[in-house]
Amino acid sequence: MVELRLVADAAARGPARYVPVAPADAPAIDAAAATLGATSTAGWSTVEHRTLDGVVALGQALGADAVEVAIEPADDATDAALAACRARRIRTIRQLRRALPVPPEPDAIVPGSTPTEVTLRSFCPGTDDEADWLRVNARAFAWHPEQGFVDADDLAGMLRAPWFDAEGFVVATRAGDLVGFCWTKVHGGGTTAMGEIYAIGVDPDAQGIGLGRRLVLAGLDHLDSLGVSTAMLWVEADNTAALHLYDALGFVPHHDKRYYLRPVAS
Ligand SMILES: CC(C)(COP(=O)(O)OP(=O)(O)OC[C@H]1O[C@@H](n2cnc3c(N)ncnc32)[C@H](O)[C@@H]1OP(=O)(O)O)[C@@H](O)C(=O)NCCC(=O)NCCS
Repeated sequence: MVELRLVADAAARGPARYVPVAPADAPAIDAAAATLGATSTAGWSTVEHRTLDGVVALGQALGADAVEVAIEPADDATDAALAACRARRIRTIRQLRRALPVPPEPDAIVPGSTPTEVTLRSFCPGTDDEADWLRVNARAFAWHPEQGFVDADDLAGMLRAPWFDAEGFVVATRAGDLVGFCWTKVHGGGTTAMGEIYAIGVDPDAQGIGLGRRLVLAGLDHLDSLGVSTAMLWVEADNTAALHLYDALGFVPHHDKRYYLRPVAS
């Protein structure tokens, strides 16, 4: 799978929006191009079996400075092939997986690390949880090119989505304040169902006391309770804290998705 993002200002970064396009469907790609032109630079198209030259030509036609291409799966050979086409890697996200269930372990909160108790419960749509979650998400992911930009409209859309399950959206509160969350999502069904740790974050003021570990374990327990036997998640390849946490919880790398920037001007 190859995704395309057209970049008008190659230095600018911002929220990504995805515009699905049928594989190898030229009219759909043209329609997406028109959409991207109308909505400026924030769009993505999903295009399969399209050469980098074709993607660059689309970028030229739309007056972009550069095209950003995401390839999955990707490895060092992909890097070399893209480098030969003047596209340089700018981001890597890694899919990790582990089998469920996770054997039970003692509560991981560091004793005495916080004067007030941390409580885990399900997210409650239509309450203050919505604003509280947006605040904690923005603080935890202030550095992230996509998750940090999730706004109230995005949240409302996800809460309405068919996959949404409040029981699978665990929040942590301390003295009544929401300080962390683990949001899970189930892909597919039956024996091939895959459970995703879709979003996990801890407020910077509450990091380092074992809350992240406890939240991920709660999310994995929920997925296990649904009969899901494999858990997966995506993590930035340079997110040291998260990689440490997932490694300690038995997750192993499955494959990478890598993003490349290619100037359009030849
Ligand atoms: C990743 C995150 C959820 C971890 O939450 P946390 O509550 O701080 O983590 P914990 O206190 O449970 O620590 C879990 C493990 O990670 C380690 N860890 C935590 N922060 C770390 C850091 N900055 N560098 C290295 N290791 C770190 C801890 O030492 C602990 O390891 P141990 O069990 O071997 O002692 C938190 O840092 C966060 O919200 N980051 C921003 C959002 C994010 O990156 N989410 C993950 C997206 S995939």
